[in-house]
Amino acid sequence: MVAFVIKGGEVVDATGRRRADVVVDGDRIVAVGQGLDAPRVVDAGGCVVAPGLVDLHAHLRQPGREEAETVETGSRAAALGGYTAVVAMPNTEPAIDCAAVVREVQELGRHALCEVEVAAAITVGREGARLAPMAELAALGVRLFTDDGNGVQDTRLMRRAMEYAGGLGLTLAQHCEDDAMAAGGVMHEGEWSSRLGLPGQPAEAEELMVMRDLALARLTGARIHLQHLSTAGSVELVRRARAAGLPVSAEATPHHFTLTHAACAGYDSVFKVNPPLRTDGDVAAVKAGLAEGVLDAVATDHAPHAAHLKELPFDQAPPGMLGLETALALALTELDLPIEQVLALMSWRPAAIAGIDDRHGGPVEEGRAANLCVVDPAASWVVDPRRLASRARNTPYAGRTLSGRVRHTVLRGELVVVDGEAQR
Ligand code: DOR
Repeated sequence: MVAFVIKGGEVVDATGRRRADVVVDGDRIVAVGQGLDAPRVVDAGGCVVAPGLVDLHAHLRQPGREEAETVETGSRAAALGGYTAVVAMPNTEPAIDCAAVVREVQELGRHALCEVEVAAAITVGREGARLAPMAELAALGVRLFTDDGNGVQDTRLMRRAMEYAGGLGLTLAQHCEDDAMAAGGVMHEGEWSSRLGLPGQPAEAEELMVMRDLALARLTGARIHLQHLSTAGSVELVRRARAAGLPVSAEATPHHFTLTHAACAGYDSVFKVNPPLRTDGDVAAVKAGLAEGVLDAVATDHAPHAAHLKELPFDQAPPGMLGLETALALALTELDLPIEQVLALMSWRPAAIAGIDDRHGGPVEEGRAANLCVVDPAASWVVDPRRLASRARNTPYAGRTLSGRVRHTVLRGELVVVDGEAQR
């Protein structure tokens, strides 16, 4: 690989902003400063040069659901979205709950267009009955465990998982949903579920599990990461827990700060997601939580689904929406935050939560791993589902104009995206 210089941009990382060129040689940043040169020049005029984004929550669907996504197509979508690392969720078929499947996904990840961190299930088969062999999987490099798609319902088992994970220095991530309370609900329970005649699930189905897990974190001292929080009540619970010093982190998705349950009015299942789209008040609270740092990260919950499944009636279609290629632009367009704060939410804070901040999330300085993204914050574009790299098409943002476009992405020193085009 020939050395290159990313030239004419403004470097933004956790240490601040400065005009600087960045020289990359091999897999490292070898110089950062003014007026630098190298055999190849990559233009960053008018752009921000930042550490690559890190997604704590992506469904890459391998093994078992390759008609929706593969590690290759999902990682291409990620690279185009500015990500250099994603945490792959374990609700595959079979679930990622044993060494063989962890190794299989890790192996697929080696050839991917971003780093793939494998999350494993907390319980065998994500069935909520018996703990997965966490120590064995941790020895393979798994740092984050979750039954995502479902929450762990059994309180005693969750307590044991926390005690076990705490002792091993691992992070448990929870999909907060009380099954009994949510049962049968296909959207948020409220004004729109009544109007549409669809069964709803109340905000409390999420909040009850947030409450329980915060209580368990207090009891066990274990670190807990709360996934895709969607309600004002959840944000308030996390705010109080953090003020009380509990070891909790939390994420929110772009769809939960850009869309409400009113989007379901046409019964279009592209707006069906779990947790469901909520009220204006919830959207405002999620945005405030992100702005105040009560919520640590924007995570995509990228959930590709095959077209024939999303074409089913609303109540039968699977929940989930694409996220990797639109997340940064949605955050830049809708959060009304300075770009360094958006990048904190999408790069360095999630990198620390995933335990990969030795090589992702910056800072952009000599000697660091060259995992970078170059973003034109002013470029506006229209989301066209046909042009997405994901194998699936279930974006709820078709036709929406967004500002902020990823121009280049560098993975371990390789230019995997140049001028908005994937290089492999
Ligand atoms: O909407 C969702 N889709 N929520 C989840 O928790 C799982 C995900 C999926 O895997 O499709």
